Amino acid sequence: MTPPEPCSDAHPAWLPLEAWRAVGARHTVVYGQGLLVDTVFAEIERACAGHGGAVARGIGEPAGHPAQLMFALVKSLPPGDDLGRMAYAELAAPGESLGSEGFVVARPGEVTVVLADAPAGLLYGLFEVVRLGEAAFGPAYPVRVHRPALGRRMLDHWDNVDVHPVMGQVERGYAGGSIFWRDGRPRRDRARLRAYARLLAACGVNAVSVNNVNVHATEARLLTERLDEVAEIADELRAYAIRVHLSVTFAAPVILAGLPTADPLDDRVRAWWAETTRRVYDRIPDFGGYLVKADSEGQPGPFSYGRDHADGANLLAEALAPHGGVVHWRAFVYNHRQDWRDRSTDRARAAFDHFAPLDGRFLDTVIVQVKHGPIDFQAREPVSPVIAAMPGTRLAVEFQVTQEYTGQQRHVCYLAPWWSEVLQFRPWGDDGRSVAEVAADLVAVSNVGDDRFWTGHPLAQANLYAFGRLAWDPGLSPETVLDEWIDLTFDPASSAGPALLRSTLHEIMDDSWRSYERYTAPLGVGFMVRPGHHYGPDVDGYEYTPWGTYHFADRDGVGVDRTRATGTGFTGQYPSPWAEVYESLDNCPDELLLFFHHVPYGHVLHSGSTVIQHIYDTHFAGVREVEAMARRWQRLAGLVGDDVYARVDELLGEQLRCAREWRDQVNAYFHRKSGVPDAHGRPLH
Ligand code: GCU
Repeated sequence: MTPPEPCSDAHPAWLPLEAWRAVGARHTVVYGQGLLVDTVFAEIERACAGHGGAVARGIGEPAGHPAQLMFALVKSLPPGDDLGRMAYAELAAPGESLGSEGFVVARPGEVTVVLADAPAGLLYGLFEVVRLGEAAFGPAYPVRVHRPALGRRMLDHWDNVDVHPVMGQVERGYAGGSIFWRDGRPRRDRARLRAYARLLAACGVNAVSVNNVNVHATEARLLTERLDEVAEIADELRAYAIRVHLSVTFAAPVILAGLPTADPLDDRVRAWWAETTRRVYDRIPDFGGYLVKADSEGQPGPFSYGRDHADGANLLAEALAPHGGVVHWRAFVYNHRQDWRDRSTDRARAAFDHFAPLDGRFLDTVIVQVKHGPIDFQAREPVSPVIAAMPGTRLAVEFQVTQEYTGQQRHVCYLAPWWSEVLQFRPWGDDGRSVAEVAADLVAVSNVGDDRFWTGHPLAQANLYAFGRLAWDPGLSPETVLDEWIDLTFDPASSAGPALLRSTLHEIMDDSWRSYERYTAPLGVGFMVRPGHHYGPDVDGYEYTPWGTYHFADRDGVGVDRTRATGTGFTGQYPSPWAEVYESLDNCPDELLLFFHHVPYGHVLHSGSTVIQHIYDTHFAGVREVEAMARRWQRLAGLVGDDVYARVDELLGEQLRCAREWRDQVNAYFHRKSGVPDAHGRPLH
């Protein structure tokens, strides 16, 4: 079966035909059977059609050599194939399993060899060779073993079936409509789904949850009478080793079956979930599982029945377990109807307070899914203390690739440096494990829509790519990943100015997250965005609301006192040494100061600057950096596609406008509150 051609109108992102030059120009042989091996073969065939090479299916005989590239499942290696055997024998411990996704690449002589134990490994091996390009075919090199660090590398779509009156077709979506649904009906754009699947596989993503965690009435039915729509998506993604998951509502037994209750301990409820789940697996045998947002921002959950999150999650886990599925149960639970006058309630504490006491009570097939920070995907937050608080529970760490709080895909904001910091963070100090080592799964809210560039802003594609790559190998440097993405997407080598193209894109994007941080909310205090849509500045927008996201600025100072000594006690949710580091005004890192402490404007940071002068300086600097980005982009006229050039150029104009608005509102606000002038006499309005 040949997969449909990638859709014609969508941008090829990091898989343009040029990226396949090195593979497509060679003679390749592929050994092995099965759907994913067919995919590998079809991909190489397509590359060869574009670049003049050839590919053959190995049929149990050694290739003999004209072959320059060989893909083989170890068990399918022909007995006399010395090259494959040589590569295999070079493994650190031959016979050691590469696992269900691992592979080796080696070049023992004139042939590049990719071996895997399981078909998915060959697929990932193919994309590794694509990334390497000509470097895969240079001088001989020994075996390189690749295995993913995280077993599940998952994207959560917040796509709605119906257009939601407030949130639209995709909640927090900034790239047009959904690739799955339009106006209440499935789109059935097979080519687009295939193109999506191959992009995801090429960066290592292996699971997708297809619908919004806020499950409305129509979307609830995807579990039952509209299950075919989910199955159709699964049919397209399967060829690229991607399993489909579904967001379900905890109230499903009531809404869909008319049961009087959704109480997790009620036998009728358990029987309903067991039977409903069995039907799901009848239709989608490799279904991944359920994703649940319960007792959170108005979604139903076990609290209505006097039960807790472990009771709720275990109910679904029991239904899924016989079929090999898992439940991702989100820890994003807090009181969103808080009284802003009540300074003892601290939203940052909520996930830990709800979930840490339940550690040990969740079944093995429950994965508690924790947002990486304690509040909500701000440009700067500490790592969530929940990640260190549940040693007896499997955890997924959740990122937000969709740029809700980081410029909504109108601003260049390359997020990999931020995610890398989170993944490398060691909650127990230097000798302890990192977040990447604690997490079982890495999950991100997707930034993809039906926009021609997939992500609205063409440069936001890099975030999607980087998420997959860091989930595969959290040790990769964000700079390396950025350069990989640039080389694949823009093919600088065949442009008129390879070095200029590479270095300019790198300069624009590399530090763009820190630029964004500089011109928005300062020193980890967060929010200050327009309520509702969350785009652009509004310093007091959330200050007197029920949402629990306050900065407490007054004429003397700003920040949230989360200390044990005088504040909400949140610092006590961290293990040592961070409980002490964050508690201490002297030791707290500057970039998180206002997250943990309320300080006077004259407080001197480690940087030597006062808080107020830091606010002014960073806001002026952030805008200058965006001005520089826009100037640099002009150099790329004629070096990138005209459509990409025009789209980015236009968006940089908006980014600059918005950054200036942020600068002026934040600076004016703090100047008016504090009365402190700028040391450099710049206009503060
Ligand atoms: C944020 C976002 C919501 C989303 C929620 C979640 O609050 O604004 O749109 O539903 O996160 O993660 O569930």
